[in-house]
Amino acid sequence: MQGPPPRTALITGAAAGIGAAFARALAREGWRLVLVDRNSEGLQALAASLDTETATVTADLTTEAGIEAVADHCRGGLDLLVNNAGFGHPTEFLDTPIEAEIAMTRLHVEAVLRLTVDALPAMIERGRGGVINTGSVLGFFPSSTYSASKAWVINFTQSAAVKARPRGVDVMVLCPGFTRTEFHDTAAMNMTAVPDFLWLDADTLVAAALRDWRKRKAISIPGWQNKTIAVLSRLLPMRLILRIHARGAERPMAVREAAPRP
Ligand SMILES: NC(=O)c1ccc[n+]([C@@H]2O[C@H](COP(=O)([O-])OP(=O)(O)OC[C@H]3O[C@@H](n4cnc5c(N)ncnc54)[C@H](OP(=O)(O)O)[C@@H]3O)[C@@H](O)[C@H]2O)c1
Repeated sequence: MQGPPPRTALITGAAAGIGAAFARALAREGWRLVLVDRNSEGLQALAASLDTETATVTADLTTEAGIEAVADHCRGGLDLLVNNAGFGHPTEFLDTPIEAEIAMTRLHVEAVLRLTVDALPAMIERGRGGVINTGSVLGFFPSSTYSASKAWVINFTQSAAVKARPRGVDVMVLCPGFTRTEFHDTAAMNMTAVPDFLWLDADTLVAAALRDWRKRKAISIPGWQNKTIAVLSRLLPMRLILRIHARGAERPMAVREAAPRP
């Protein structure tokens, strides 16, 4: 007797880091994958290494054409959408070109909104499926345009989860803390001051995220370190959080030469 057909997941930012870890974990479970990234070479290398049916879409999700190319796949009926692509800036917003800030907002807010809205109706009609949006524990703190965009992801995703859950669809925001990926190198951030115990590896993070998603949680904060940071964001007085942030802003983050783009 034939089993059920494989489920299909679309993952953005799949060529590296957390997205690639999602791809590896879901491939091991036999999911069919649609992998999206602006890094075409990275996508091809990952697809070749996975033992499952895989399609790749090279798209820059800060552009209209890129979002539309991926939206078509989302409307086609997915079982899981992972909105994960993201990047940061090493500089404060007044020192960052406005075009770069707008591109980040487009990726973290507009692309997440549009792809979620494109994917959900077909899932709701079938009464099953899910969306995982990657936020950040930084989204619990007012610290930058990056944290503000991730606060939006957390807020939006939790509200979408409330609406989708009674219709059989599980929407969850994943809030990583420091995770060993290419993220900080790409943004030319020097992270040597961050102690070892605060870091998680991407595969451990994703295994915990998928466990939480299967438990139908609306928010996943893997690791005791990140859970503690999230609790502190609620317990510490806002005045103190802002004072700590102001001290940090006086000592700008050390910036390295950006890693060359593949
Ligand atoms: N790593 C952390 O400590 C950490 C902590 C909290 C939250 N996060 C979040 O986790 C998510 C994944 O980050 P990561 O750590 O896995 O970073 P990563 O290793 O840099 O991987 C991100 C992937 O997304 C791709 N990407 C970036 N901008 C894109 C765009 N406009 N269109 C399509 N693809 C794009 C990148 O391509 P390129 O190589 O070309 O840039 C890269 O392949 C992000 O949303 C990030 O904000 C990460």
